[in-house]
Amino acid sequence: MSIKRPKIIKPFNVVVFGGDGDLAFRKIYPALFHRFVAKQLEMDHDIFAITRSENSEEKFFVNLEKFIIESVDYDLDIKLVSVFVKKIKLIYIPEHTKKAYSELKKHLTKHPERQCVYYLSTPSSAFGEISDCLKSCELLNTRSKVVLEKPLGNSLATSREIHEKIAKSFYENQIYRIDHYLGKETVQNLMVLRFANRLFESSWDSENIENVQITVAENLGVEKRGAYYDQSGALLDMVQNHLLQLLCLIAMEPPSRLEANHVRNEKLKVLHALRLFDENSVHTGTARGQYTRGNMEGEKVNSYLEDIGKYESETETFVAVKAYIDNWRWKDTPFYLRTGKRMIKRYSEIIINFKSVKHNAFDSNGDIPGNQLIIRLQPEERIELVQMTKLPGPGGYRYKPISLKLDYVDSFTERFPEAYERLMIDILRGEQTLFMRQDELDAAWIWIESIVNGWKKANQPKILYEAGSWGPGEGVLNENHAWSKSIKANEDEAL
Ligand code: BG6
Repeated sequence: MSIKRPKIIKPFNVVVFGGDGDLAFRKIYPALFHRFVAKQLEMDHDIFAITRSENSEEKFFVNLEKFIIESVDYDLDIKLVSVFVKKIKLIYIPEHTKKAYSELKKHLTKHPERQCVYYLSTPSSAFGEISDCLKSCELLNTRSKVVLEKPLGNSLATSREIHEKIAKSFYENQIYRIDHYLGKETVQNLMVLRFANRLFESSWDSENIENVQITVAENLGVEKRGAYYDQSGALLDMVQNHLLQLLCLIAMEPPSRLEANHVRNEKLKVLHALRLFDENSVHTGTARGQYTRGNMEGEKVNSYLEDIGKYESETETFVAVKAYIDNWRWKDTPFYLRTGKRMIKRYSEIIINFKSVKHNAFDSNGDIPGNQLIIRLQPEERIELVQMTKLPGPGGYRYKPISLKLDYVDSFTERFPEAYERLMIDILRGEQTLFMRQDELDAAWIWIESIVNGWKKANQPKILYEAGSWGPGEGVLNENHAWSKSIKANEDEAL
């Protein structure tokens, strides 16, 4: 059952700054292509890829076709690739001056009635100059939009600086800050799960929930992004955005309507209620790790230091945080956030651990384990409800936890669109629900900075863990370290 009728997307222009970059090839163009194949986008559009390299046309188009073809995971009439590619123009803009923007302007002014989306897939240091230049070239109007890719700064101050530069040319309702986790189908399903099922909402609080575990484990290392990653680490790269957004969706109050500012207001309240850390509480409430050499699927892999080509670095590639939300609903319920690179496998899930029943009527030997709601985000999308079930047979009541499973692939035959596909369509439709507002970003930074400053003051050491392992051991945060237990349980089951 669909709730809203999708808005028709009128003819548009998309201008991708950093248009010959990795993100553009891997995500932006394939996303637009798949929506074009799905007939969600009309032919009445133009895409302009902005490059700073002269004479790079041939290489650009070879790459473009290659990446688009590689992204196809269904039967396709290959001719559609060249139809789509013909709509893309490469424009050389070496600097942010009126002169350099003149060719772009010539193209854009052919269709002044179209909305124009400026996608800034460049380092954030260029955002200010680009938006100033667009404004002085008179390329902006109320239908213009700007899309910003992370990292949006590395502190509250730098994030605000970026915002102030952008805000000289765009209003908040024209700004789309991408967090691709919010475009994932299973992440959006969190909202349906919570707000379309009364069953869960009535027990969604500290009265009934023991703790919440949010885990994003990656098997990849830092790849070719060592220079960026060494400046940010797991806390800024993953927790500040993706994991906090997941926490918000789990913890927020039901919005009165599923509209952008209703949802963002509720998320903001959660971020404001996060308990700040200091140099004492970071000891018990956080852990940081870094991977050493190890084995991944039988192959030797480098340590983090080897990957980034340095002898020393304090940057964390693993982080665990025990967070508290100081409000009525979540009083004293820990939210465990964990993420790391070079873990044994790629694995993201949210576990809601319910409290055990108040009284054990079956025998006197301790508590009955609580129910678990497990929301697997990737690699496979699945929801599991773990409940106590009687073992068949006479001779008293014996019970064990059994999972009720909803596997997305079994239940839905449709293709799962990639996160960027949904996000691109939302941008074109002017739907801001899945994009962060600046005040959300500010609130997230205040909490993250309390950890960063706590670590600095306390000189918090890093724990080394072997690449290809379960990460820093069971002792991390000392209690309820359900991550490896849950992964192992699923592994055993798979075997
Ligand atoms: C990005 C981070 O935002 O998310 C990367 O910068 C990380 O370091 C990636 O690998 C993870 O995304 P996904 O969709 O593969 O879980």
